Amino acid sequence: MKTLNLDLGDKSYPIYIGQDLLTQTDLLTQHIKGKQVMIVTNTTVAPLYLAKVKALLTLFTVAEVILLDGEQYKTLDTVNEIFTALLTARFDRSCTLIALGGGVVGDMTGFAAASYQRGVNFIQIPTTLLSQVDSSVGGKTGVNHPLGKNMIGAFYQPKCVLIDVDTLDTLDDRQYSAGMAEVIKYGLLGNVDFLIDLQQNIDDLMHRDKGLIIKAVHQSCTDKANIVAQDELESGKRALLNFGHTFAHAIENTLGYGTYLHGEAVAVGMLMAAELSALEGFIASSDVQQVKDLLQKTQLPVSINSKISYQDFVDAMSVDKKVIDGEVRLVLMKKLGQTFISKDYQKNDLQQVIKDFL
Ligand code: NAD
Ligand code: GLY
Repeated sequence: MKTLNLDLGDKSYPIYIGQDLLTQTDLLTQHIKGKQVMIVTNTTVAPLYLAKVKALLTLFTVAEVILLDGEQYKTLDTVNEIFTALLTARFDRSCTLIALGGGVVGDMTGFAAASYQRGVNFIQIPTTLLSQVDSSVGGKTGVNHPLGKNMIGAFYQPKCVLIDVDTLDTLDDRQYSAGMAEVIKYGLLGNVDFLIDLQQNIDDLMHRDKGLIIKAVHQSCTDKANIVAQDELESGKRALLNFGHTFAHAIENTLGYGTYLHGEAVAVGMLMAAELSALEGFIASSDVQQVKDLLQKTQLPVSINSKISYQDFVDAMSVDKKVIDGEVRLVLMKKLGQTFISKDYQKNDLQQVIKDFL
């Protein structure tokens, strides 16, 4: 097992990464305060891993809430189901919530923990590649609104993140590829050595070599933890983690949440950001081709193959947390493996990229 620490002063926490971690009682229970534990999961993950996690919690009062599965259920109504379960079980402020599932369950559980009785403990047990390399780390929690992706939420850090990569054995190939999009993101946004590593090992990673998966999860979490430790509340550098995401969120919102998986939309969004970076003269078209090649080898989409109107797309892009005073700031590439935040790109170049992809 590898252990990373996300260094946030008195909110610091460990990220455990390894195999067979869901059999290790102390690893989990040392982070539980109080006696009451609510496991939040969904209809897909519960039959796979709920009993295993419950078996670690025999000394606690355990309840569970099993949510409907899907990005379209990442809503305030669903979070309210978690509150109802907590109140029905008479859970008090000393309780601990455990998120068992992918990013959707993790984001909603974190948000529920941030607001239940003004804040209770929570723990992340991410079970998708995407949630293991990204969403479980860093404390962004929340839900979608029909008018904007992830627009309602809170920064709220877990007490630990427990990543058992063996849970990926049951993840289907489409979801695995979607998670790889966020892995590739770390290479592109600021870690050129990791990017080269990924380019060299992509075939074995796609064949799910466990050693390589652990390495990729570890590197992604290391990079994310470093950035979050410097800028927890996203007043600057953390926005780089949103490389491709302004485009991605517009794709997800305009097509309907769940049509493109989040990671799939991020893949297309990163390519759009690369295209814009090339038009702005920062990177060469051969660099854009490298991004495209890597995404294609990962079985990720590199185009939008549904009809979206230009105006709808632009409107959706303008509902983004990187918009300040009406100006859309974008993460662009200075070179492969190096990104920066810009509001000074040529608006007609952006228009051209959007039109090319639509
Ligand atoms: P998801 O949570 O919808 O999970 C994908 C699918 O895999 C679901 O059907 C789920 O039930 C299933 N699943 C989960 N674990 C499984 C397993 N071990 N075996 C088989 N099936 C399993 O999607 P996701 O890709 O994990 O997360 C996407 C969400 O994360 C989006 O809502 C996105 O906005 C959010 N996100 C948040 C952050 C953050 O910093 N908080 C970062 C990136 C993404
Ligand atoms: N996924 C982007 C962030 O955590 O900041």
